[in-house]
Amino acid sequence: MSDSEETGLEARLAEQEAFEPPAEFVEQANVSDPSIYEEFENDWPGCWERAADLVDWETDYDEVLVDDDEPFYEWFVGGELNASYNCLDRHLDSRGDERAIRWEGEPGDTREFTYAELHREVNEFAAALRELGVEEDDVVTMYMPMIPELPIAMLACARIGAPHSVVFAGFSADALATRMNAADSQFLVTCDGYYRRGDALDHLSKADDGLAGVDHGTTTVVVDRLGDGHDLGDDHFDYDDLVADHAGAEVDPVTRDAEDMLFLMYTSGTTGEPKGVKHSTGGYLSYVSWTSHAVLDVKPDDTYWCAADIGWITGHSYIVYGPLALGTTTVMYEGTPDHPDNDRLWELVDGYDVTQLYTAPTAIRAFMKWGEEYPDRHDLSSLRLLGTVGEPINPKAWKWYYRHIGDESCPVVDTWWQTETGGMMITTLPGIGTMKPGSAGPPLPGVDARVVDADGEEVAPGEAGYLTVDRPWPGMLRTLYKNDERFIEEYWDAYSGSDEWVYFPEDGAKIDDDGYITVLGRVDDVINVSGHRLGTMEIESAVVDVEGVAEAAAVGGDHKMKGEAVYTYVILEDGYEEGEEMEAAIIGGVEEAIGPIARPEEVVFTPELPKTRSGKIMRRLLEDIANDDELGNTSTLRNPDVVDDIEAKVTGD
Ligand code: WTA
Repeated sequence: MSDSEETGLEARLAEQEAFEPPAEFVEQANVSDPSIYEEFENDWPGCWERAADLVDWETDYDEVLVDDDEPFYEWFVGGELNASYNCLDRHLDSRGDERAIRWEGEPGDTREFTYAELHREVNEFAAALRELGVEEDDVVTMYMPMIPELPIAMLACARIGAPHSVVFAGFSADALATRMNAADSQFLVTCDGYYRRGDALDHLSKADDGLAGVDHGTTTVVVDRLGDGHDLGDDHFDYDDLVADHAGAEVDPVTRDAEDMLFLMYTSGTTGEPKGVKHSTGGYLSYVSWTSHAVLDVKPDDTYWCAADIGWITGHSYIVYGPLALGTTTVMYEGTPDHPDNDRLWELVDGYDVTQLYTAPTAIRAFMKWGEEYPDRHDLSSLRLLGTVGEPINPKAWKWYYRHIGDESCPVVDTWWQTETGGMMITTLPGIGTMKPGSAGPPLPGVDARVVDADGEEVAPGEAGYLTVDRPWPGMLRTLYKNDERFIEEYWDAYSGSDEWVYFPEDGAKIDDDGYITVLGRVDDVINVSGHRLGTMEIESAVVDVEGVAEAAAVGGDHKMKGEAVYTYVILEDGYEEGEEMEAAIIGGVEEAIGPIARPEEVVFTPELPKTRSGKIMRRLLEDIANDDELGNTSTLRNPDVVDDIEAKVTGD
């Protein structure tokens, strides 16, 4: 293709606002009949049987939805099932020799598990967990990077009815301790280390530091990822030894009630304390199976790849439970996309003949910056569908993804959802809907998402408002662990009326004339850095813990690559000096308390913070300063002069 032709194509694409799903895709799509929206609407909540039908039930449920005690909804009531049975045993006859997991380590080492092999190892580890004393309903924590033992441990827990709580490996020792204490979790599965950009990282020391902060006795299992014969310590169990000791063991999947907890996942919220989001077995598994089927178009013969980390909800729902419940092959990659070179992902797509790729806008923006020469080195024609999740995607990045990765022949699904929703809520159905870059799309069939003003009235198309969900859905969180009160306060108080319960996801949004929703971002004190949720309060308390810091504010500012980045404004105690040393101490403090993802982009020292007359920090104003935006009204400030001082520091004037 000549340069001018190429430029012509780019220009055409840049102007185009709407894209139809490719005919070839529609022909083979799992869901392609537009009447599904009406069908779900006319038969609500019965429509959700379609989701439950994708799962094998040991005992049929009596009722789809019970709403006697709102907002504590119950789904598929009376039904009994086991998630590990659904992800493994039921596929053994038809797909036992087919691959369940294809894993690649960062250095290029590979491991594969057929369904039969995965079933065997999950059984062995389940037997080991039992012997270690894990009983039904005990919470088992996992602090592991992207290695096969992570999904194996999750499924082993599901098999014996022990809920798991996975803590992202990039989180700090403190974050691990906080979560283990909050869940009163007495068991930990972790590993010695893993590879990042060519280096073997020590993970076990971090895990041990975390364990030192746990306020009760613990039993720890360590996976030998690095294979260097490390010392596990006398008080830890070696994963390989345990599995070998239980070779050939068979553990019957325990019968779980549909509403029994499958797992806990801690996520950031408005206060400094992470929220323990509780997911159910029946509703969750049905919902992630359904959305994997309808949105990701997963079929058993696919090689499907969600390039997220299992430490986040995306990995739980769309690397582990959804794809394995549908009996497909799920790809896992340990490392980063730029090691050893910027084409690593494309090398994997090419090598494994990946059929669907699901990733985050922050990654797509990085690919775009590196340039199309990297994907151009590889044959990506195996791809059939592309997806994004985690943050708003700008139309330019959407179109780059569509053109340079999908070759204009793969639909792109921009999926809006949250840790709390369990699965996708707003997105186009790839076999049906027109795609509009920048807009996630309409709510999925059966999902009642709206955009409202502060009084809960629906706003006109084009106006900014707040996103709400006016009806429950099977994948929804059931409560915050041991904190029903906070569950109601956080998610239901804002918009529920006297006789109607409305879920508030704490996102801003707008809607267009066709009912397509564009999600604008968080409206609470949560910063979304590269698709990862961080609470401003958590960051502030980490900064204040640094010696010499008197007061701090953390806000999110726009960032070209990360979407948002952390900006901190800091007041020092008398006798401490502003400067590089202090800045390094603050950055180090945040990394230690939370992890490198929360690293502040900028530390601004200031003698004062802008405050209202009642003494509240005006975060909005600090956000405007970080973004170099026109400042809002400063007349309500107790100390308006401080704003000019801070602005001068940030812009360097
Ligand atoms: C944001 C990740 C715009 C949103 C699955 C939400 C998005 C938060 C999108 C949840 C999207 C997620 N477009 N924003 N397609 N997907 N978000 O809990 O602000 O880590 O509330 O779940 O990410 O983040 P969480």
